[in-house]
Amino acid sequence: AAAEKGGYEYFMLKEIAEQPEALANTLLGHLENGRIVLDEQRLSDQDLRDVDKVFVVACGTAYNAGMIAKYAIEHWTRLPVEVELASEFRYRDPVLDRSTLVVAISQSGETADTLEAVRHAKDQKARVLAICNTNGAQIPRESDAVLYTHAGPEIGVASTKCFLAQIAAAYMVGLALAQAVGTKYPDEVVREFRALEEIPAAVEKVLEQMEPVRDLARQYAGSNTVLFLGRHVGYPVALEGALKLKELAYIHAEGFAAGELKHGPIALIEDGLPVIVVMPSPEGRAVLHSKMISNVREIQARGARTIMIAEPGDEASAAIADHFIPIPHTPTLLQPLVSTVPLQVFAATVAQERGYDVDKPRNLAKSVTVE
Ligand code: G6P
Repeated sequence: AAAEKGGYEYFMLKEIAEQPEALANTLLGHLENGRIVLDEQRLSDQDLRDVDKVFVVACGTAYNAGMIAKYAIEHWTRLPVEVELASEFRYRDPVLDRSTLVVAISQSGETADTLEAVRHAKDQKARVLAICNTNGAQIPRESDAVLYTHAGPEIGVASTKCFLAQIAAAYMVGLALAQAVGTKYPDEVVREFRALEEIPAAVEKVLEQMEPVRDLARQYAGSNTVLFLGRHVGYPVALEGALKLKELAYIHAEGFAAGELKHGPIALIEDGLPVIVVMPSPEGRAVLHSKMISNVREIQARGARTIMIAEPGDEASAAIADHFIPIPHTPTLLQPLVSTVPLQVFAATVAQERGYDVDKPRNLAKSVTVE
């Protein structure tokens, strides 16, 4: 078993380290003559051109990947995108027809709620596209089109490399859809794909710089509560960071949209409370960055200890952060692929420090095939 873990104490740590490869393999072979191609395609070009609305359905970490995908797909395609927990979607009465595309994201391809959401969508004549890590699983089998994440088998119950691969795959779906339905930004579509191809190297770089994150994790391992704050695509990253920490370390952890602070979460801030802040690139949309800086000031004024995940050139963040964790520059939409990594390492290290089994957190299963 030690050999299987490739020298790592836990599969999860190995899987975190494998993320550059998981991303590279997921991207491989999907760009042909400047066009994005899917793995399986039982939809006609006309079917895709007719799409006028997208629902993303998923559970757990895959749902957080879907939330990130929404920002990109809406931007590139100008199609409305809703992201739904599969367990809510299937018991509601969602409005679907043959021009609706339902994108089901599932590592296992067997999650009961996601599978039932797919079946419900098909009953309503919607088209279904699956993003899945398991060849030939039930969800891809029942879908009209499939894009596989080639992350390799994931043993750790808490999803890591599959999460990053799902984001990359969902971006490719967005780009493919943009090509089918038309886009306001035709050049950007190929440019973003090229930018995606740079991401595995960027993740490699993040992984080389994780020792300070592990130190911080040991320092804060005794916390009762840790909050995560983000904005735009940084918001689902905050949700994922909180999910990882609660599932692995059994600490009360919550992710918030920074703009919601004044509507409740700020009441939780007290002296010494650790808050992990995902900072957007200062080279991206200036308003996102400046609003985040004022949010950080607000929580610091109330005693929060801030751990800021930010680009090295982000002087405004460096000037105010209690702890500063650098991540390489990426285009705004792609940042989750690098900013998630320190949050995974943080959660795993806190769990190890507290003496828990990182691969098999209590009460959780890798695949929830029974509701
Ligand atoms: C379980 C796993 C999570 C996973 C979720 C969805 O809760 O512990 O890691 O994100 O199921 O699984 P799926 O296979 O559909 O991606």
